[in-house]
Amino acid sequence: RKKRTILDIQSLKRKKIPITVLTAHDYPSARFIEASSAPSSDPNASHRRGIDIALVGDSLAMVACGYTSTTSLTLDEMLYHCRSVARGCQTSLLLADLPFGTYHSTEDGVKNAVRMIQEGNMDAIKLEGGKELVPLVERLTSRGIPVMSHIGLTPQRQAALSGFRVQGKTVAGALKVWEDAQALQAAGAFALLIEAIPSRLGRWMSERLEIPTIGIGAGAGADGQVLVQLDMLGVNSLERGPKFLKRFEDVERKATGAIEEYIKEVREGSFPHDETHGYPIEDQEWEGFL
Ligand code: KIV
Ligand code: NA
Repeated sequence: RKKRTILDIQSLKRKKIPITVLTAHDYPSARFIEASSAPSSDPNASHRRGIDIALVGDSLAMVACGYTSTTSLTLDEMLYHCRSVARGCQTSLLLADLPFGTYHSTEDGVKNAVRMIQEGNMDAIKLEGGKELVPLVERLTSRGIPVMSHIGLTPQRQAALSGFRVQGKTVAGALKVWEDAQALQAAGAFALLIEAIPSRLGRWMSERLEIPTIGIGAGAGADGQVLVQLDMLGVNSLERGPKFLKRFEDVERKATGAIEEYIKEVREGSFPHDETHGYPIEDQEWEGFL
């Protein structure tokens, strides 16, 4: 499979092929993306295109680091995760969030986006915010750093938004989301992430924008979809998730089941088994020694 480009992703919208985005936050989760994107020998799966964009989302603060908010994640922590993902994922476009507080000024945003490219080995940057970010999006895109804008529910601002709440439910709210979308497209964003907005608004905007929309809780009318990998795998199955989350697997149940089995076998003495998991001595010199 060839490495995905910005043009590849934009052309999917024109061909009406849904764009697939999934988060990765370390080497194994990046390898899962790469492995599920590998060309298959099954001829019936020849239409498979795999994951188009691997997103090192700052949701990793909560799902992988145990912070209670994405605002706790520092740029250095993000860079460490980006480098691990880049080592595991070769063919998806590599996109990462600039963490909270690292782009409050245009100068900071430019400096820190450059670090994400140079030290984090990312291809593109995602920024949470609306038209107030137009100067930064213009600067980055005109200097060759692709930007995906993120509007609707922006978790980095959850305190100001009074929690993780659906956005754009009123006419005034929907108009604000639409104005932000148009301004960011004009500023040069290559795509727009729309989070937790009514499905009808998501479809309406996607039909009118040139650039692709990637939805999470934005309905089936978005040009692509994104989920948080650990959430969709059911690694955090103890916590109540948002309405938009579909768990495609229950990894927590499978993992705890396997660990309980390990505990049982060690306690019973049935693992390890010298014959299958132990190292024999073949050297004759040892005869009579042990
Ligand atoms: O951080 C993240 O994983 C995200 C997605 C939920 C869109 O921004
Ligand atoms: Na994010």
